[in-house]
Amino acid sequence: MTKEILLLSGPNLDQLGTRSPEIYGPLTLVEHVDRFTKAAEDLGFGVRHLQSNFEGDLIEAVHAARGRSQAIVINAGALTHTSWGIADALAMFEGVKIEVHLSNPAAREPFRHVSTLASVVNGSIAGFGATSYSLALDAVHHLLGPQ
Ligand code: DQA
Repeated sequence: MTKEILLLSGPNLDQLGTRSPEIYGPLTLVEHVDRFTKAAEDLGFGVRHLQSNFEGDLIEAVHAARGRSQAIVINAGALTHTSWGIADALAMFEGVKIEVHLSNPAAREPFRHVSTLASVVNGSIAGFGATSYSLALDAVHHLLGPQ
């Protein structure tokens, strides 16, 4: 059976392409998701993607992934720094969990230095622009093994 990766995108990531391209790069979210999906399919994974500007939608997507998806790759946007609700939901998910960021929050404003998700994920990848997503896929592949 094909293993599924749930790719989650939090608030304001729907604005990529025009949102601070000097920080986040020129690609739109659709382009990031297309690249990720094609590369994942080449490795034998299926991908389901959700972007939401609402915390509860992301929490419910994590709940729905329990027992269905084998991995979650999440860029929670600014909710990374505030959301104990997403962290609690991820803690219940039994599969692989990778936190991903285009920029390097640790090198930016102090409020970005805290991640509520960091302690409940397998690992975090940040600061490599579009390559952060392919590194996150590598991490999933590494942890789940060849398909
Ligand atoms: C981000 C970093 C967050 O601090 C910010 O709020 C975002 C994007 C990133 O991908 O670099 O929305 O998660």
